[in-house]
Amino acid sequence: GSPRGRGVWRYRDLLPRPRRIVTMGEGSTPLVKLENLSRAMGVEVYGKLEFLNPTGSFKDRGMTVGVSIASSFSYRLVVAASTGNTAASMAAYARRAGLNPVILIPKGGIASGKLSQIAALGAWVLEVEGSFDDALDAARAAAEKGLAYSLNSINPYRLEGQKTIAFEILEDVDRVDHVVVPVGNAGNISAIWKGFKEAGLLGLPSMRPRMVGVQAEGASPLYRAWVEKMDSVERVRNPSTIASAIRIGNPVNAAKALAAVRESDGLIISVSDAEILKAAATLAENEGMLVEPASAASLAGLIKLRNQGIIASGSSVVLILTGHGLKDPRALEFIASSAGVRRAYASTAEEALLKLEEIA
Ligand code: F0G
Repeated sequence: GSPRGRGVWRYRDLLPRPRRIVTMGEGSTPLVKLENLSRAMGVEVYGKLEFLNPTGSFKDRGMTVGVSIASSFSYRLVVAASTGNTAASMAAYARRAGLNPVILIPKGGIASGKLSQIAALGAWVLEVEGSFDDALDAARAAAEKGLAYSLNSINPYRLEGQKTIAFEILEDVDRVDHVVVPVGNAGNISAIWKGFKEAGLLGLPSMRPRMVGVQAEGASPLYRAWVEKMDSVERVRNPSTIASAIRIGNPVNAAKALAAVRESDGLIISVSDAEILKAAATLAENEGMLVEPASAASLAGLIKLRNQGIIASGSSVVLILTGHGLKDPRALEFIASSAGVRRAYASTAEEALLKLEEIA
């Protein structure tokens, strides 16, 4: 019959079976129609609100599975390199499991909200000079030496948890033509496509949307590989973009992601930082949703593809809104200034009333 319960473990029939499950109720996120944007763009746009997961990003879906496995194996230390969200998620789930989290981050390269989040969870933070890719090299070497259990996106259990995004979409809409995903290390787009391929095994409708990967221009090795019809990526040495979550030059899941895009008849595009910030402001002003820049890349991608006529009018599109806006206060300031500052001062209640009369 159809799956029961809620959250990621609702799909336990298609997930690994750890001895113990470490969970915070992740998954079962709302799929919300973006009414104002749909009307303006002539497509049916839905947002999958992954930023509503327990630590504020989709990473929790994979982490509940990965940490459950780690704790079933009697590891004490878990390690991951991260641009921030994986780290925050790992720290939280490791705490619940009684494991010690060690995190490698690119020095100065992650949003301040994430850094505070990780610190407050009491994780060990190792700042590595260089990019995320350098931090990942170190984390992989530590895991190979057996120093700790690795919870990087190469960890297959994490991708198993993340594939449940596809199952939930299929339960919520009758039709989906495109799924638009921001791409960094390329794990999520691969996982979601795997979910669509397996959905039939759960008795869910088997729809095969086109997978659209969106990269930031200054960190777009996968986009380049796609355009040049290559099977592997060339490492970008100094990736740069305001979207720090996807500031990655050497995506470890590149081969899987390219296969997912090819099999689904989708595509990979890139967007500029200006387009990303504009999209974040558009989402805030029209739909009341604040997401971090990496997530706004998906809307920026949709806008671009609509303008180019690549996504036809009337299409049904799901944007994966991956991370919470409050994680990146500096980016919010940019978004606020593009929205136009609306702020005034009053020294007394009477003066405040006068100001309000002006505003009204
Ligand atoms: N959006 C957000 C908010 C992310 O944090 C990430 C990845 C992505 C999109 C891209 O997902 O890597 O599977 O292609 N963040 C990782 C991290 C790399 O360390 O938190 P991906």
